[in-house]
Amino acid sequence: MDIEEKKLLSSYAKSELVGGLILGEYARRAKDNFLRDKLIHHSAEEIRHASYITTLLEKNGGSITAHDEKGSHYYAKAGFPKSEIEVLAMTEAFEPVALLHYKVYVDTKGVSDDVKNVFHKIIKEESHAGWITNWLDTQLDKSAVDEARNRYRKVIEEVYLQELERLKKLEGLVREIAINADKYIKRHGLWE
Ligand SMILES: [Fe+2]
Ligand SMILES: [Fe+2]
Repeated sequence: MDIEEKKLLSSYAKSELVGGLILGEYARRAKDNFLRDKLIHHSAEEIRHASYITTLLEKNGGSITAHDEKGSHYYAKAGFPKSEIEVLAMTEAFEPVALLHYKVYVDTKGVSDDVKNVFHKIIKEESHAGWITNWLDTQLDKSAVDEARNRYRKVIEEVYLQELERLKKLEGLVREIAINADKYIKRHGLWE
């Protein structure tokens, strides 16, 4: 595993962790029993993904670096969500992009079996956003839902495409992953 792949894995682990922590904070605040239960499970799953990747890195002599000190990543750009609608619109937008990226990653030639096994496990659990779409679709404040959905999709699209451009300029496996992701998006779009 080269240094760039380690850095990339570290950034995924941090995204999973921060996503899980934000969901956990909203679970703590939730007044509604259904929502609280769902958020606890969802938060735990994201933090579990962070722990899978951390273990993988440790096995390969890597570790998790400090989170996004430059403030250029998704959560810094999106800001801490101000409402349940916002946290769920943000998560709903984030999920398909993470899933797409992880799928492209494991299909890229040269990825080790160790890494593949971890991401296959994560991918299986990443189709957990159905309840979020249902919840958002049933909110009375439709314009707040639409506004939040559009805003987060825009942020995630912008940050992700920028990140792919950055990775394409590097060497080795991460460059191949970025090229494959780019090809996938050109064929299917980012939100398919
Ligand atoms: Fe996850
Ligand atoms: Fe997820």
